[in-house]
Amino acid sequence: MIRTLVTGATGTLGTALRPRLTAAGHTVRAASRSPPQEPEGNLNWVELDLTDGTGLESALENTDVVIHTATAPQGDTAAVDVEGTKRLLEVAETAGVENFLYPSIVGIDEIPFPYYEQKVSGEIEVEESDIPTTIVRATQFHTFIAELLDSVAKLPLWPLPTNVQIQPIDVGEVADVIVDYAMLTASGRTDPIGGPNILSIGELAQVYRNTRGLRRPIIRVPIPGKTMAAFRTGRATCPEQKIGTVTWEERLAERYASGANDTPAHAKSPT
Ligand SMILES: NC(=O)c1ccc[n+]([C@@H]2O[C@H](COP(=O)([O-])OP(=O)(O)OC[C@H]3O[C@@H](n4cnc5c(N)ncnc54)[C@H](OP(=O)(O)O)[C@@H]3O)[C@@H](O)[C@H]2O)c1
Repeated sequence: MIRTLVTGATGTLGTALRPRLTAAGHTVRAASRSPPQEPEGNLNWVELDLTDGTGLESALENTDVVIHTATAPQGDTAAVDVEGTKRLLEVAETAGVENFLYPSIVGIDEIPFPYYEQKVSGEIEVEESDIPTTIVRATQFHTFIAELLDSVAKLPLWPLPTNVQIQPIDVGEVADVIVDYAMLTASGRTDPIGGPNILSIGELAQVYRNTRGLRRPIIRVPIPGKTMAAFRTGRATCPEQKIGTVTWEERLAERYASGANDTPAHAKSPT
């Protein structure tokens, strides 16, 4: 049985990974800064804070595989995604981890965006470590795009960079791929994975608006600069790697079937 630590286990990807790893026969240790008080099932939850190293040694005890999904896009990204990743790698090496899996994002080295620059640094830490590693780059998850659109949904007009190209993927399908790589042999840098269709933000917003039965006008806001230019020219997509099968329409129909939004953190059900 492979003993697998999932960092960021309460997050979008971590939540999708937990049941899949268990179903694939892994013994799963789930790490969070605030593990649930009454965890469901027989998962072993541990406390782990990558910014100061709290819980690192015990999280990595008797661990074969690490899937490092913890990230802080809105917080202190350098402290979590770069320094935290470095800390985790050092202890993982001492613990004799055989495969350190790092989920990453398609196009990060071609899009000058601060979070992506930290992710590139995180990848470099992973690749330069002495542990066998696996890096899996994915395109944006459906849930991420939906949350972005949720944030404009109440406005009378939706001001959006409508020409930006996105290839959204179902997080469950990303988790399936990662579980396949979560073996005792590492795979190095793997082929990127993306969803079944490449759509503009304008098209994504129209589907979102129709699914929710809303009528707000979508207004194109041209955002100058290299970052948006890179998104507009498809740097965040991987047209040769349409691995996902679940479409944006299907995902939204499921999301709004019950009239409810996706639920947060600990309450999240696997997708
Ligand atoms: N979202 C996307 O569209 C997307 C697309 C492609 C790739 N990815 C990559 O996939 C990975 C997972 O992304 P995600 O969207 O699932 O992230 P997420 O939902 O934001 O979850 C990240 C988790 O990291 C944990 N975390 C934050 N700060 C921490 C700290 N100081 N110490 C330990 N844990 C900490 C949090 O758990 P606690 O609060 O419980 O500690 C949180 O649940 C990331 O590497 C991301 O770059 C994401």
